[in-house]
Amino acid sequence: KQTDSSVETRKWWLDKRDTIEMCLSERDSAYIYHLDSIKDNIQNLQSISAIDRIFFAVKSNNNRDVLQTAYNAGIGFETVSSGEVNHILELFPSIDKSRIFFTPNFADKREYDEILQKGIRLTLDSTYPLKHWPEIFEGKEIFLRVDPNIGKGHHENVRTAGATSKFGIPIYELEELAPIIEHHNIDIVGLHAHAGSGILTNEHWAEHARLLAETASLFPRVKYLNLGGGFGIKERAQQTELTMGQIDQSLQVVKAEFPQYQLWIEPGRYISANTGVLVSKVTQVKQKQNYYYVGLNTGMNSLMRPALYGSFHNIVNLTRLDAEKEHLATIVGPICESTDKLGVEIPFPETFEGDLILIENAGAYGRVMATQYNMRQPAEEVCI
Ligand code: LLP
Repeated sequence: KQTDSSVETRKWWLDKRDTIEMCLSERDSAYIYHLDSIKDNIQNLQSISAIDRIFFAVKSNNNRDVLQTAYNAGIGFETVSSGEVNHILELFPSIDKSRIFFTPNFADKREYDEILQKGIRLTLDSTYPLKHWPEIFEGKEIFLRVDPNIGKGHHENVRTAGATSKFGIPIYELEELAPIIEHHNIDIVGLHAHAGSGILTNEHWAEHARLLAETASLFPRVKYLNLGGGFGIKERAQQTELTMGQIDQSLQVVKAEFPQYQLWIEPGRYISANTGVLVSKVTQVKQKQNYYYVGLNTGMNSLMRPALYGSFHNIVNLTRLDAEKEHLATIVGPICESTDKLGVEIPFPETFEGDLILIENAGAYGRVMATQYNMRQPAEEVCI
């Protein structure tokens, strides 16, 4: 019995078979990104007319061609380090600086200063910088990152709210900033909040926008509310996709109530995840009692998400798409760690050395989180 996603994969594979085989003739594994899909995903987000600006979260995928595609689509870039900022500036030297947004956490004074000197807007995610180095923010346009207090997302480790999370300023602390802001002529032009990653409930963005709009009354010069990222994607057949129309409708209601604010978002996963796959070849197969292990040329050194969050990525044997899925396979890599599993209990056909294996939804937080652990090079990136 096929899942929806395996039907999609079949179409995709039949269409791109030659290209993929060529990519893998020179290497054992590769991240393959489909740039037109990046454009499609951006267009979906652009259909939310209540949203005034979109920034692509560079941390999800910093491949040059992927970034170029986002740049050509007219959106901006959310960055979290001077490394990411410099990467964008090198790629697009004449970029309008308002298309870059800097959202670091626990960065040092020098890094904030360096970014401000470049004329890039940033968000402060703690009161510490304003209390200890207010002088570097004098006369600058600054956002405050608010802790929305309720974290959301696909795993505990990606929920970014509440006292146990290191991110954001608790709402009750905001009031005490007023005298510092006034004394140092700091222009608080926006509020920012990110609740987590992989959110699949349409209502989230309106609730989040309302929270920020209500909090913004503390700061008379606020014009922008940045709702963060977190737009989830469908990873399992039984999940329901986000509906851009519904998100738009509910945001329009908030906008009608608070017409003075522009709404911004900064998604990563929604733009890049389903545009990338990781492909690799089978090295060996092992049967151990009831466990059927399929070994690949690459593992958690290329794709860390399953080991780190138990994330689910559907996995397909491209060489045997039509064979009966008679096993529940554990798909593993060559790394010396027990958690080096890309998939557990995946319905899989009888598999052989050299078969081509595809791992879905690997375009976000895949290659960017890869390591050279065990001195094994992670999969290289190819764009089609
Ligand atoms: N804005 C801020 C302030 C963020 O911290 C993040 C993600 C985003 C935007 C983009 O979130 P997205 O739209 O991609 O969900 N490595 C994890 C995800 C960590 C997300 C970190 N922050 C994963 O593989 O699921």
